[in-house]
Amino acid sequence: MVGVITPLETATIYSLFLAPIKDPKRVLDAGTGTGIWAIDFADQFPDAEVIGSDLSPIQPGWIPPNLVFEVDDIEDEWRHNPFSYIHFRSLSGAIKDWKRLLKEAYDNLEPGGYLEVTEFECLMHSDDDTIESATMIRKWQEQLHVAGETIGRTFNVAGNLRQWLTETGFINVEEVPGSPWPRDRTLREVGLYQQQNMFDASSSYGQAHFTRVLGWSPQEFAVLSAGVRNELRDKRLHLYSKLYVVYGQKPGLEQDSGDEAQEPPAVTPVWTHDPETYRPEEYHPELYEADP
Ligand SMILES: C[S@@+](CC[C@H](N)C(=O)[O-])C[C@H]1O[C@@H](n2cnc3c(N)ncnc32)[C@H](O)[C@@H]1O
Repeated sequence: MVGVITPLETATIYSLFLAPIKDPKRVLDAGTGTGIWAIDFADQFPDAEVIGSDLSPIQPGWIPPNLVFEVDDIEDEWRHNPFSYIHFRSLSGAIKDWKRLLKEAYDNLEPGGYLEVTEFECLMHSDDDTIESATMIRKWQEQLHVAGETIGRTFNVAGNLRQWLTETGFINVEEVPGSPWPRDRTLREVGLYQQQNMFDASSSYGQAHFTRVLGWSPQEFAVLSAGVRNELRDKRLHLYSKLYVVYGQKPGLEQDSGDEAQEPPAVTPVWTHDPETYRPEEYHPELYEADP
């Protein structure tokens, strides 16, 4: 069964996860990076045992007692006890064989456990053709895509995830795309965070690809990267990225027997902000001064 939740409901925005997990016992955040997701998750589920793994030991040491960070290559064979929930986020461009990785995740889940994968599409969009004027951003993203294909670590992941999870054997696969360029206030706040995310990405996503794979000089890439940041600041460009959250469940629970497709349980959002009291304008007054 495949469903679509559109676009960016409040629960979608403020949840750490969307899979309908209830009481996860063992959780893996693979490719955890700074570990911030794993830290927040471990805080929200103090009874869960949470592991954050990455190639680089860059995570902080002051962390919840139910969390450990491990150095691990998730492209190697996995040797874990089964997890109840596995989380991947922002691994596009890093993985050689996504189908193999998804199979490892599947094999390392307990029956009924969930895998959730969150990825952006590589190329940005606009509904009013302003993407045509974003020449630096387009060049950056198109060439990044070329470099990723050249080294066999594609950035073209997000739109394939639903099919790949289904082919791996997951059931109850749900895909959650977002988000249109916003007038809506909450989405504007999301846009602010994404702008910051893209500022950081404009240098970190590309230095190695452009210089080592495409043969650019570091100076040429620095000029492109500065141009990208200028365009990201330009409010005349109404750009957006498509974010896909895809989750699927490993079959095997008793209620999965029979031919009928199972309806997934309802999503219970876990709030990082209390929706009753949270007022984004208190945090980002600049977003609420005037319409762009
Ligand atoms: C863009 S960061 C995303 C970090 C984190 N998932 C997040 O969303 O904040 C990608 C991370 O994946 C890690 N990574 C890439 N390939 C990996 C591999 N084969 N095994 C483990 N980690 C890997 C990188 O070291 C990096 O920290």
